[in-house]
Amino acid sequence: MIEIAASILASDFLYMKDDVQRILDAGADLLHVDIMDAHFVPNLSFGPEISRALRRGFPQEQQDVHLMMTHPEDYIEAFSKAGANEITIHLEIGEKAIKTIHTIKDMGLKAGLTLKPDTSADSLFPYLDLLDLVLIMTVEPGFGGQELIPDALNKASILRSHGFKGCISADGGIGPENAGLAIAHGVNRLVMGTALFKAQDPAKVIKEIKAMEQA
Ligand code: DX5
Ligand code: ZN
Repeated sequence: MIEIAASILASDFLYMKDDVQRILDAGADLLHVDIMDAHFVPNLSFGPEISRALRRGFPQEQQDVHLMMTHPEDYIEAFSKAGANEITIHLEIGEKAIKTIHTIKDMGLKAGLTLKPDTSADSLFPYLDLLDLVLIMTVEPGFGGQELIPDALNKASILRSHGFKGCISADGGIGPENAGLAIAHGVNRLVMGTALFKAQDPAKVIKEIKAMEQA
């Protein structure tokens, strides 16, 4: 099943509830929440309060929280309590990433590792059994609205051939023009910001992409 995760970074912050509702009504399956610390990435976004607000506004919706942070270990409990269902952290933060994955799982959440475009798929091989999901960055993390780096998708094929059966997300620059390519590589969750929130007709975009799965 292909899932569409709506990246709220591309929503209208002044009217976030209405804007997110509009995209959920269009058929998005879950919410993707980008947390940036201005250290791991050169941008700042939100803290745990965004998860709490989204949980209040959308009690039933799954929250996939992507921590682009140098020290995510300090925030797992806060995001868990605030409303996250799934947390992904970056493998590039070093050894502590695996300990942090255990912390996420111990809190009863789904845990994932994320790879920047230049990080190889095989660096994940030792940890695949631990992971519920892998998030493949198809742009350099930090900003919405960038162009997809198609080569990054090869990592999804490599992980599938290595036997990974969990969720594989592609994040960054995804839209109807390249969703088919991502799906063909074994991606089953498409994170989309700009291509949904700035679309004239987001329902049409989602329908078109979901039809690709059956094709
Ligand atoms: C980038 C973020 C993405 C981003 C996707 O650092 O991780 O989730 O919001 O946005 P678009 O779809 O606009 O590339
Ligand atoms: Zn993201």
